[in-house]
Parts: sequence; structure tokens; C-alpha cells
Amino acid sequence: MKARLFVCTTCDRYAQPPPAPTRGEQMLAAIQAEAERVGIGHAISTVACVNSCPRPAGAALREGRGGGVFRFARLTPPDAPALVDFVARRVAGERVEVPDSLADRVASYILPRGPAAE
Ligand code: FES
Repeated sequence: MKARLFVCTTCDRYAQPPPAPTRGEQMLAAIQAEAERVGIGHAISTVACVNSCPRPAGAALREGRGGGVFRFARLTPPDAPALVDFVARRVAGERVEVPDSLADRVASYILPRGPAAE
């Protein structure tokens, strides 16, 4: 399974005026620093939106082609260590649950693609 965390750098798209750096860019910096510290910097990517816009900042962990997708919202930089630990363990193939500290940050979960219905 090739898991990868996609961090939205556009959030907060509704901020007036938009801060510089954006909340998403601040979140990305915190995540990248923690990911480099634990050796999974390669598993972090950026994206323009993960559909968490009404509740910024957003990110999504996609677990390979056809795999499940955890979508997060309302992330803040102090969430980075718990989020990166969760991502690192999923990247390593552990079937760990979302940690309690991030439970209220899960906006949705898309099930992995299963066998085609008959
Ligand atoms: S703009 Fe960040 S989730 Fe849509």
C-alpha cells in the first residue's frame, strides 16, 4: 500500500484578507517538519483542496490506488505530531485507528474499493 498525506495549502479560502502564509501553508510547514523528523517526508504532498474548505485547514490520507481515504478538517499546527504519527504507522502498513486527539478532526472516510458488485 502506498499511503500519502495530501495537505491543502489553499485553506482558508474564505479568509478576508487571506493571511500570508495561509493556514494551509502553516499546517504544511508543521507537518513537513514533523514528517522529516520521523523519516516520512517522502509521504507528504500538497494539493489545492481536499473539500474541507468550510472547516479549514484540511488534509487527506490516501492509502494507494483504490485504497481508503481519511479526510481531515479543522487541523491546526499542534495536531501535526499526532497526525504524522498516524500517517507514519499507516505508511508502515499498521492498521491503527485515528488517535483520540484527532477524532473530531475526521471529516469523512472513504472505504477502499472492494470487489465489483455482482
Ligand atoms: S481550500 Fe482547503 S480544503 Fe478546500
